[in-house]
Amino acid sequence: MSVQPAASARRPVTLPELAERKALGQPIAMITAYDYASARVAEAAGADMVLVGDSAAMTVLGYPSTVPVSVDEMIMLTAAVRRGLSVPLLVADLPFGSYERSDEQAVETAQRFVKETGCDAVKIERGGTTVDRARAIVAAGIAVVGHVGLTPQTAVLAGGFRAQGRTAEAALEVCRAAVALQDAGCSAIVFEAIPSDVTEVVMPLMRIPVIGIGAGPATDGQVLVFHDVLGMHDGHQPRFVKRYASLLESMTAAVTDYVAEVHAGAFPTAAHGYGMAAGEAERLRELIALSEIGLRHPVTDPSPTTLVS
Ligand code: KIV
Repeated sequence: MSVQPAASARRPVTLPELAERKALGQPIAMITAYDYASARVAEAAGADMVLVGDSAAMTVLGYPSTVPVSVDEMIMLTAAVRRGLSVPLLVADLPFGSYERSDEQAVETAQRFVKETGCDAVKIERGGTTVDRARAIVAAGIAVVGHVGLTPQTAVLAGGFRAQGRTAEAALEVCRAAVALQDAGCSAIVFEAIPSDVTEVVMPLMRIPVIGIGAGPATDGQVLVFHDVLGMHDGHQPRFVKRYASLLESMTAAVTDYVAEVHAGAFPTAAHGYGMAAGEAERLRELIALSEIGLRHPVTDPSPTTLVS
């Protein structure tokens, strides 16, 4: 493998820099990543923020929802992403059940993420009691990103994976949660799957960077899931996703070619192997014949096939 991190000329993105981008109206680009390789892609692409989303549960771990993913699994993935990133600000999702119970639980989990992965901030979902958890984590010196609108960890309460805030009353609840998380000290917030009109109404109230996913163009930035951007799966695709490639097709075609060539004996060729200096293979046969291996396994037909089998 030849994927060593290249030295970057860019300085690491900081929270004040993100606030400045908001003030200047410069859109912030965020994408998820789940391992070293996807982190290297995000970094090379110039992303400002990278999120190790608990969408990892579905995209890379094969769970049916984000709910089952554990703290240990998310920490392993976040640490791998950290090793691949030097510039974008790294945010990690705290998984379902790892922060809701008490302020102590929330702080303990957030501290584990920061100490064991080196992430720059943690993300937690919803308003309500989560607002207290956000305040507690911030008081412990850890940056928090909030997440309102469609919150996949508790989607069942909202009637499934559907846009939120489609009536004025429902939208008011989304706005309340967003402002409460801001007041609790969150450094940024994700708005997921809410009408663009709601975003426009609430944006003047938001002093922290707002990163949208299915929340329209009025936010300070956008986030999409790595596998969605690259077309790496054939599962459900929410309407807010824009695909920039169809890698599933090209990856499957490439692996199909490889399997077919192995089955046909067409790969590997001499070009993919290593040679020995002239005469060394013959000498090896002689050495083997004279060694304890040769004595136990006398070679009658010294062809390469016989040696390998
Ligand atoms: O888990 C995730 O990938 C997310 C983004 C969609 C915001 O929370």
